[in-house]
Amino acid sequence: MADLILRNARMINRGMITEGDLHIQKDRIHRVGPSLPNPGTADELDLDGKLVMPGIIDDQVHFREPGLTHKAQIYSESRAAVAGGVTSFMEMPNTKPAALTRELLEDKYKIASRDSLANYSFFMGTSNDNLEEVLRTDPVNVCGVKIFMGSSTGNMLVDDRRTLENLFSRCQMLIATHCEDEHTINANLARYQERYGEDIPFTAHAEIRDHEACYLSSSMAAELARKHGTRLHILHLTTARELELFDANIPLSQKKITSEVCVHHLHFTDQDYPRLGSLIKCNPAIKSPADNRALWEGLLSNKLDIIATDHAPHTWEEKQGNYMHAPSGLPLVQHTLVMMLQHVKQGQISLERMVEKMCHAPAECFRLPERGYLDEGCFADVVVVDPDTSWTVTKEGLLYKCQWSPLEGMTMKGQVHQTYVNGQLVYDQGKILEGRPGMRLVFNPLH
Ligand code: DOR
Repeated sequence: MADLILRNARMINRGMITEGDLHIQKDRIHRVGPSLPNPGTADELDLDGKLVMPGIIDDQVHFREPGLTHKAQIYSESRAAVAGGVTSFMEMPNTKPAALTRELLEDKYKIASRDSLANYSFFMGTSNDNLEEVLRTDPVNVCGVKIFMGSSTGNMLVDDRRTLENLFSRCQMLIATHCEDEHTINANLARYQERYGEDIPFTAHAEIRDHEACYLSSSMAAELARKHGTRLHILHLTTARELELFDANIPLSQKKITSEVCVHHLHFTDQDYPRLGSLIKCNPAIKSPADNRALWEGLLSNKLDIIATDHAPHTWEEKQGNYMHAPSGLPLVQHTLVMMLQHVKQGQISLERMVEKMCHAPAECFRLPERGYLDEGCFADVVVVDPDTSWTVTKEGLLYKCQWSPLEGMTMKGQVHQTYVNGQLVYDQGKILEGRPGMRLVFNPLH
């Protein structure tokens, strides 16, 4: 059991960077402060000014288990997560079978309790006919209920208005939505197919899954939530216009409607399709530089609350298909922190705000106690970052089962040095250290 003092750290927490020490005892942060005394029992590690931050809480990943394990597994992707500084994840229900009953959902928890190196939670899935089962989900042990109000990998579309009204009015848990209007997408797709057949250029993805499709669906979700007082969290926003649906002036802990932006939508624009094609094909689509600028503004003004990855691995072979066949999604969980560090370096966001949006805000948003902060008494989910090392993303360093990344060849400044999950060192300078699995996340219910 850990008894360790990290000395000479630059700790990022609650909007400040302070120099000092952090004492981890067992699974908790015991003390934080300058020149902490050693009771005589603790090991010590001199960090020589490296950055220390809370572990990232990623509220949207696809780890593909059960059923899609040729793409990824909880075992492999949780190791990629901790190597990237992500200590807790919330996983989506579009596995095979989809997590549409409590029993199927619990099967995923069982796998994670054996195989996940990070802390974990799994969303309950919805369909047009599993309402009663959804309503029986335990809000303390499950992060939320996911509704695909637009179809994506796994075809879990919920498009029946009555079902949606029922879910929004009766569900006493956080509802997370994927918002894209199916009719608009299908009409756009039909036009492109008429013109190009199957060989639609990937540059068209943002015009097929377009602004209108996003707005129609996300505005409907917001309208339903306002009508029924639902706790709604809209995932992966991509367009400037959708920002009008969110209020920047309410403190996060009091918001009923919250929002997420993903690191790839902050990082890439439609100008990257000619270079990366299917590798950055994802749903909702990566859109224009103007939308990208609006997302950054929305994030910094607090219209957008949290940053996530929507880590969605597919095999390299699958991604070689043409537009109609290459599945949507890209692997990101190992690189989300270093991607954001490049934006810190470019002056787009401060370290303090980055930590707010990747660590503090997800904890607040999901009512996840004792995580997301470097506070005394919190679980010791801690990431040590070396801000100065430059390194290049190579295939050899990838821990994703799919073994590819759209970032290969990119030089990054700043590197994850160590990751602790519940006080246990699980990643150390390029190496995964096997140990006890992470914990099932526990939430404060809404009422
Ligand atoms: O691009 C995406 N891929 N978006 C989603 O919503 C689902 C995901 C997947 O599971 O592949």
